[in-house]
Amino acid sequence: MGSKYIGVCPDTVARLETQAAGRYRSAKEADKAVKTALHQITGAFMTPDELKRARRLLAGSDAEPEQALRETLRLHASTRERLPNIGAFYEALLGPLNARVVLDLACGLNPLYLGSIGYAVRGVDISGGCVSLINDWAAARGWDVSAECRDLLCDPPLPEADAALAMKLLPVLEQQQKGAAMKLLERIPAPVVAVTFPLKTLGGRSVGMESHYSDWFEAEARAGFDILRRETLFGELCYIVRRRAG
Ligand SMILES: C[S@@+](CC[C@H](N)C(=O)[O-])C[C@H]1O[C@@H](n2cnc3c(N)ncnc32)[C@H](O)[C@@H]1O
Repeated sequence: MGSKYIGVCPDTVARLETQAAGRYRSAKEADKAVKTALHQITGAFMTPDELKRARRLLAGSDAEPEQALRETLRLHASTRERLPNIGAFYEALLGPLNARVVLDLACGLNPLYLGSIGYAVRGVDISGGCVSLINDWAAARGWDVSAECRDLLCDPPLPEADAALAMKLLPVLEQQQKGAAMKLLERIPAPVVAVTFPLKTLGGRSVGMESHYSDWFEAEARAGFDILRRETLFGELCYIVRRRAG
């Protein structure tokens, strides 16, 4: 495995290697398949160079912390897309939930923004680079924010929270293992979950994603969840759902 994926959760690499070993005859083909999968599920959102730039921003962040934070959030594709309206986005999505502690699943760099506006956050992601950046940034600012490098497909223990976030996550999980998205939602230890979907590809194309994701998610959620809210916020399809008792 090349140095590009050194920071990825070892469980994820092992899981993908086992899958590839069963599918490809040569070790070279299997290795290539693992690298492609790792790029699709994590590397495409934040590259090693972007992580290095984020580290430099953190190191110099004492002078202008807000500016450094904004520049850092620009280095992960998912927070970059939200950045122009990030305050209004979170006010609309999370404000009505009155949560103090938020569990952020496959968090990317989200916990940095949430920590800056006063939330306590417990993040999980397979990107060790994002996770250590979050922990170091939170320590430097004294925020109640921490993250763990864990693979959500390996059933890690999840801390209890007032609300959970599964933002732009479910399609990435389904791509890795069919059925994994709803399996995860069913075991989240929080009374409400904010689930969001991108409405554009990473390349910026809109290709009928709103109807595709809403048809899929609403059909999947119907049996076990109440959909408390559904809205499109600044180009992101958002749901607030609650697991039905029983
Ligand atoms: C589209 S990004 C979303 C990031 C963040 N939720 C947001 O909306 O800003 C998907 C994230 O999922 C993480 N990821 C992918 N597969 C994962 C898995 N099996 N377990 C935990 N995290 C995963 C990636 O590293 C990446 O940070």
